[in-house]
Parts: sequence; C-alpha cells; structure tokens
Amino acid sequence: GEAIAIPNANFSFAGFFGTYDRGSAQRGLQVYKEVCSACHAMHLLSYRNLLEIGLSEDQVRALAASFTVTDGPNDLGEMFERPARLSDRFRRPFPNELAARAANNGAYPVDLSVITKARADGANYVRALLTGYVEPPEGFVVAEGMNYNAYFPGHQIAMPAVLNPDQVEYADGTAATVDQMARDVATFLAWAAEPEAEQRKAMGVRIILFLIVLGGLTYAVKRKIWADVA
Ligand code: HEM
Repeated sequence: GEAIAIPNANFSFAGFFGTYDRGSAQRGLQVYKEVCSACHAMHLLSYRNLLEIGLSEDQVRALAASFTVTDGPNDLGEMFERPARLSDRFRRPFPNELAARAANNGAYPVDLSVITKARADGANYVRALLTGYVEPPEGFVVAEGMNYNAYFPGHQIAMPAVLNPDQVEYADGTAATVDQMARDVATFLAWAAEPEAEQRKAMGVRIILFLIVLGGLTYAVKRKIWADVA
C-alpha cells in the first residue's frame, strides 16, 4: 500500500528511558478482553504474564478462571472442559483460520501477540487505525462489506469500527473516549509484543554509564603512565 503519515501518540514507552504506563496497559487489557478478543487471538501470551503489568495473582487467577479451555485426554481417554489456569495460553476466539475467516467475511483477524512489532511504528499505527474510521473522500468507492480507514494501507479494511465512546466501562474511572481506548489497547499490545523492553533499556543505560566510567579511568591511567615522558 501507499505510505500514510501516522500521527505520533507520544507513548510513555517511546524513547530511550521509556516505560509502560501500567494503568494504561491494564485498561488496554480490559479493551482487548471485552472488544478485540471476540475476533483476535493473542496466543503467545499466557494468563500468568499479566502479573507483569501489575495485576495481583488473585486477579489473574479470577480472570483466567472466567475462560473455559479444553484439556485432556483424562484417564478414560476423554477430552474435557475446565476453567483456565495461570499457565494456560490466552483463549483463542476461533479453532482455526478457516473458522475465523468464515466469521469475518473472508478476512483474517490476525493474532495480535506481536502486531506492534510486525507493523512499522506499530503502537502508533494500532492507535491510529482504531481511530481512523472516517468518511471516505469524494469519489472513493468502498467495496461491499469493507470499511474506509484513513490509516489502513489501501484504505479498505474488513474490520469494522469496533470502538465507540464508552464501549467499555473502565474499572479505574477513566473516561472511555475512543482515543483513550485506542491508546490503552495500543499500550497493552506494545507491552505484550516486547515485555522485556524496559529491562533492555535499563541495561543500555547501565552499559553507557559503565563505558563513561571506564573511559575516564583509562584516560587517567594513560595520563599517569605517560606523565614522565617529555
Ligand atoms: C485487522 C486490531 C477488534 C476483525 C486488524 C489489525 C489490527 C487490529 C492491528 C491488522 C491491520 C493490519 O493488518 O495492519 C484490533 C484491535 C481490536 C480489534 C486492537 C480491539 C480494539 C476486532 C474485532 C473484529 C476484528 C472485534 C471482528 C468483529 C478484524 C479483521 C481484520 C482485522 C477481520 C482483517 C482486516 C483486513 O484484512 O481487511 N485488527 N482489532 N477486529 N480485525 Fe481487528
């Protein structure tokens, strides 16, 4: 598709010292759970990973237990259903790609586990995409079953506008505007795709500090060794 200028949302995690806003990531989890998970899997995540964004173990256990997964075979060789546990992967909305396409007009709702890494400028893109359902320009013909989106390459997307004001009711009382929900779910997806980013950046800072100190010492030693040479 053609290049589209994606607005910069100034996320807290952008840049060298950036960290994930835990409140935003938790709200984004709520958006994913209540809206996106109807169509999109996040199969690389396990419920226990949610401990990293500040949910308590009881909260995560309760969340997992609200989903039913298929397990087995048991001693009788039968498959059975049980509530999900911390160690289970996020439940998939469809058993396979064919079923997912059948439910979505032939289009495939991709797994969102690493979507912010799979697309250029991913977090900004996801936020822009979710807020990009606008009227098509004069003369633009939108195909049957498709929707116009300012930021989707080619501008025609099978996914409808899924976020409307107050689509979710935030537990922390934050006003659920479309932009707020889009930012929050983009933050959650960015964390999911790169949970180690904070440690990686912190390590980078320590390495730079170490190199500065080492450079200073090396210089001092050099001065001392060469002090008597005229
Ligand atoms: C595509 C995000 C909810 C159905 C996509 C894409 C993203 C995305 C990032 C990929 C665009 C690309 O390929 O670059 C989200 C988020 C959601 C959400 C964050 C929740 C806030 C939904 C829901 C449905 C859905 C509820 C089903 C009713 C689809 C489909 C596509 C898609 C069918 C493929 C579109 C195409 O190829 O034309 N979504 N989505 N999505 N989504 Fe969603």
